[in-house]
Amino acid sequence: MTAAAYGLNRFLAAARPSATYRVMDRVAARRASGAQVISLSAGEPDFDTPEHVCEAGIAAIRAGHTRYTQVAGLRALREAIATKFQHENGLDVDWRNTLVCSGGKQVIFNALAATLNEGDEVIVPAPYWVSYPEIVQLCGGKSVIVPCGSDSGFKLTPHALQAALTPNTRWLILNSPSNPTGAVYSRAELLALAEVLLAHPQVLVLSDDIYEHLIFDGIEFFTIAQVEPRLRDRVLTMNGVSKAYAMTGWRIGFGTGPGWLIEAMAKLQGQQTSGASTISQYAALAALTGPQDFILHSRVAFQRRRDSVVEQLNQAPGLHCEVPQGAFYAFASCEGLIGKMTPAGTHLDSDEAVVNALLDEAGVATVHGSAFGLGPYIRIAYALDDTSLSRACTVVQDFCRTLTD
Ligand SMILES: Cc1ncc(COP(=O)(O)O)c(C=O)c1O
Repeated sequence: MTAAAYGLNRFLAAARPSATYRVMDRVAARRASGAQVISLSAGEPDFDTPEHVCEAGIAAIRAGHTRYTQVAGLRALREAIATKFQHENGLDVDWRNTLVCSGGKQVIFNALAATLNEGDEVIVPAPYWVSYPEIVQLCGGKSVIVPCGSDSGFKLTPHALQAALTPNTRWLILNSPSNPTGAVYSRAELLALAEVLLAHPQVLVLSDDIYEHLIFDGIEFFTIAQVEPRLRDRVLTMNGVSKAYAMTGWRIGFGTGPGWLIEAMAKLQGQQTSGASTISQYAALAALTGPQDFILHSRVAFQRRRDSVVEQLNQAPGLHCEVPQGAFYAFASCEGLIGKMTPAGTHLDSDEAVVNALLDEAGVATVHGSAFGLGPYIRIAYALDDTSLSRACTVVQDFCRTLTD
């Protein structure tokens, strides 16, 4: 019997698998067939989790912290999260209004699943992280995609927000620094968006701050609940340890928001995964309360890599890349490659064709911009050692130089 015979949930049937995971599968398949591939597709830091954090996880196991925690998380971790929001984001947070989840993704899923009813609209500025529209879809909502091109720095403008709002709008999703563009909203830009939102009290805001600490050039990070306190009772501020502390595999994310929302999310999580891994929660506690020098070191490394990658990409004929201010992604326009032909005879008629040819014919894995809702672009994750990055950029330049009209 097949899925068709039994019938899938209609929301799941209409959802698409993650485009980034698809690329990772293709990379794995090519490597398994013996091909050399440099992957610039992964959305995770290449660094190891800091030693003291690993030790805290090991110590938790040895101390017998191997049982369930409360659904919403260990109290000590929730208090540390409240302190983090207070000190780093100026948010006066009670630990009871925090929730620990199995990764940042579960925070988002919980929030949307707990609140969306069929037909509810979620404003998703594009380019967006691939999972937002799919999670909206899984929860029965409708994504309202708002294109935000390079002319607005890939950011939502107050005017575009105003035009997208309807009486059915339930959420706006903001992500700064952004995956895939690295764009960072300034305090003034957030205030201007908040001004529009104040007139629409039915709209909740999900602020995905997971790349908060990966921000360059001395730019200061702001989150919307901080810049406009009048929105605080309808903002879910979401963060996690995945990117800041190189802990993607530990699966710990967290959020703070109004009590009713946190309670509803915990109720849902209680019937789904229960509390996040106890061992990982102890490790996350060590990450948040221990030495913070890792954040500084990784920021310095990523800024150096960003500078080098953007410079090299801009030397490739047909590519154009703005300088991103955060995260570890470069989002390069490949408009100049569209319509060209590779030496192997592949006609590059879309950014997906560019990405496929780059992988199959040159051995460099990237992700096409249209998977993030804006083409023709390619997303380059520069979470890789300097030598491999430099080699990959040379390969990309050579690939571009050998194309013909
Ligand atoms: C913008 C954005 N939000 C959330 C997440 C999810 O993070 P986590 O691995 O903690 O679930 C990611 C991961 O790639 C991301 O890029």
